Amino acid sequence: MSSFEEVFGSAPEVVAEAPGRVNLMGEHTDYNDGYVLPIAIEQRTRVRIRPNGQDEHVLYSEMLDRVVRFTLDNVPAEHFATYVYGCLMEARANGIEAPSLDIHVQSNVPVGVGLSSSAALEVATLRALRALTGARLDDVHLARLGQRAEIEYAGVRCGIMDQMASSLAETRRALFLDTRTLERRLVPLPPASAVLVIDSGVARTLAGSGYNQRRAECEEAAQRLGVPALRDVKDITATDTLPEPLRSRARHVISENERVLRAVDCTNARVFGLIMNESHASMRDDFQMSVPEIDHLVSLLQGHPDVYGARLTGGGFGGACVALCESNTLQEVAAAVLGDYALAGFEGRLLVPAPAEAAIDAQEAGS
Ligand code: GLA
Repeated sequence: MSSFEEVFGSAPEVVAEAPGRVNLMGEHTDYNDGYVLPIAIEQRTRVRIRPNGQDEHVLYSEMLDRVVRFTLDNVPAEHFATYVYGCLMEARANGIEAPSLDIHVQSNVPVGVGLSSSAALEVATLRALRALTGARLDDVHLARLGQRAEIEYAGVRCGIMDQMASSLAETRRALFLDTRTLERRLVPLPPASAVLVIDSGVARTLAGSGYNQRRAECEEAAQRLGVPALRDVKDITATDTLPEPLRSRARHVISENERVLRAVDCTNARVFGLIMNESHASMRDDFQMSVPEIDHLVSLLQGHPDVYGARLTGGGFGGACVALCESNTLQEVAAAVLGDYALAGFEGRLLVPAPAEAAIDAQEAGS
């Protein structure tokens, strides 16, 4: 782990950062033009840059302790560098020309668990480029560039939720977003409740292929139903005409949109929690994006008296679970559930609230 100064010899010109997110409701709805309800998390990614006067970009990842050199002529071979490369390419396509840069990336957003470490990297990189060049780029447009970078260069046909959440959400209020119109508002959590996120310890192995396959199934279902997107299906019984698995996939998306709309206006933590539980059942049974370990972790969370509700969060096929809990017993709930999860032979870990040793500035102090 080395600082910008240690790697590049002197101070950066611009420092920018962006948070990860956890999605409370609305999974796989964004690319169906539907509704989502993510909230930002404390963990974030920090990008420091400075023009280097050379003919190539020099990128250092503190997490990997690796340097990658690249120009915009070729996609870098290292996966993590493709996100930064994609942002530089998309920025350039939008008239934002950056000189060759020294780039330092530091992050405490957990990777590969469904908390949008890639969106945090994209939004932080684009914020740094915006600050350096003085480009006029609003937060929504910036999120769109990040999404395009991910689709074009990282190969995941993602929706707009993660980049919008990283660009616009807060840690204390969730972002209710209509992904078709991009209309949005910030929504407080129900009184006296708080968010708990636990990693199942199961890597999101199918993340890319399973995700793209689900998206293709949803698009086929919409086409067969004669609507532009599944968001436009108002009567869920219309799905009865579809063959499996399209019927189940569509049923998840349509019912999940309706759950987001119920959750947004819900000021009762118990009711909100029940909607989360329904969402998990739909992801498990209809969208088939869960795995047995996650189902076990979710049922342990749901069985705890201080938990209002729990569900898988993010793209699925592994990763983390989110729970809505009583706000003053989060640590006790986490310890009890992780203990029971370990008894079943699995190793989870607490992600939110972020353990103190994971703080980004604690990393800095220790470096
Ligand atoms: C990933 C994608 C998002 C969204 C979620 C599932 O995080 O990047 O666009 O589709 O999965 O809700």
